Amino acid sequence: MTPLERIRNKQARIGVIGLGYVGLPLAVEFARAGFDVTGFDVDVAKAAQINAGKSYIPDVAESDLSAMVNARRLRATTDMTELGAMDAIDICVPTPLRKTKDPDLSYVVLAVEAVAATLRKGQLIVLESTTYPGTTDEVVQPMLEAKGLKADVDFLLAFSPERVDPGNQQFTTKNIPKIVGGIGEASTQAAAALYATTVERVVQVSSTRVAEMVKLLENTFRAVNIGLVNEIALMCHKMDIGVWEVIDAAKTKPFGFMPFYPGPGLGGHCIPIDPFYLSWKARQNGFECRFIELAGHINASMPHFVVEKVGDALNTVRKAVNGARVHVFGVAYKRDVNDMRESPALDVLELLGKRGAVLSYSDPFVPQLRLDDHVLTSVEVSDVLRHLPDCSVICTDHSVFDYGAIVRSGGLIVDTRNALKQYASPTIFRL
Ligand SMILES: NC(=O)c1ccc[n+]([C@@H]2O[C@H](COP(=O)([O-])OP(=O)(O)OC[C@H]3O[C@@H](n4cnc5c(N)ncnc54)[C@H](O)[C@@H]3O)[C@@H](O)[C@H]2O)c1
Repeated sequence: MTPLERIRNKQARIGVIGLGYVGLPLAVEFARAGFDVTGFDVDVAKAAQINAGKSYIPDVAESDLSAMVNARRLRATTDMTELGAMDAIDICVPTPLRKTKDPDLSYVVLAVEAVAATLRKGQLIVLESTTYPGTTDEVVQPMLEAKGLKADVDFLLAFSPERVDPGNQQFTTKNIPKIVGGIGEASTQAAAALYATTVERVVQVSSTRVAEMVKLLENTFRAVNIGLVNEIALMCHKMDIGVWEVIDAAKTKPFGFMPFYPGPGLGGHCIPIDPFYLSWKARQNGFECRFIELAGHINASMPHFVVEKVGDALNTVRKAVNGARVHVFGVAYKRDVNDMRESPALDVLELLGKRGAVLSYSDPFVPQLRLDDHVLTSVEVSDVLRHLPDCSVICTDHSVFDYGAIVRSGGLIVDTRNALKQYASPTIFRL
């Protein structure tokens, strides 16, 4: 049976390396489609939780996961030597930045080394981690070919970017179109056939580099537009114009405008990071990405602006930030998720702490938070309202917060997300 036939009749054994926000939903989706799926992770606790039918990713319902585990269609292991038994392998490991803002491909390299150690003829390898154009053919392909097997001939190799949006109820792994680009035609066909078994629409492109660039265009588009709207917010502040009203009115234009919203800064594992993968690679080719760098500066300045707003709010009651009790509502990087990676709330807290504020926070998704050398514990909103802080900051607009009660408490509030849109009060300070 050819690799393509094994995929089409669901006989292929699928391995997913990296069982995080991207890998676990994907593994469950393949299992649901009827494949025999093995998840690989270096984290022993994650593998144990999956094998016990327990989900640690909010977008993966425990009932779905345990049903797949009980039906023996999904299991997890830390034993990478089992990769040799897989017919198709999806790599979904982290691609962070180093402190210097250069790409850190160490997780990808480790995962590919594990794949290379047991690589055999007929295997399909797909990289899903977001990365710069050229990673698949310049880094992954030579590592896999080192022992003599040839890509697109002996084994198949493709890149397919992950577009999942954690917390999004409308668009999930299944109904977000999947981009696929292979090292050659055979690789593209095999990878497209694999995703066609689980995803509603597969879009084939001509190369791995195009597929890698698609993802970076999408995320750069977001980072730059958020940077633009953040700059407009700073500008509106100087001109005493309400930026939220401007955006709401502008978005009534039925063509040629797409609303983006200001906020306390960028967060998550994608938008603050991915554009720098592109600018790094562009620099290697003698090209300077000015939009990316500029948007990065503006977005990084937003936590400072939030702290300035806190100072303005406290000033109205003749108080200084130094010594004030400042409470932050929502610390996850976006609404209704538990992901803290790159969360701008951390910057806001740190900057306030440096100015001498006494800090506390509430986030039902984040029970505890490490800040420098001490740990904060999330406070119940009812307790916050009983012992009002000097000023509150809404950093993340989780839908569970009772905003009416927060406003009625009468305390000063800096609202960075327009969560209090329908309330009018001199105690509210909007971005
Ligand atoms: N989170 C998102 O919303 C999102 C969306 C689109 C794309 N992406 C991209 O997908 C990739 C994965 O992101 P994520 O959010 O799922 O990360 P994550 O940190 O949630 O999960 C990664 C997993 O990989 C494991 N891992 C690390 N090194 C490993 C190795 N050598 N072998 C096996 N397992 C290993 C980690 O233990 C972890 O469980 C990144 O490139 C990211 O940019 C993420």
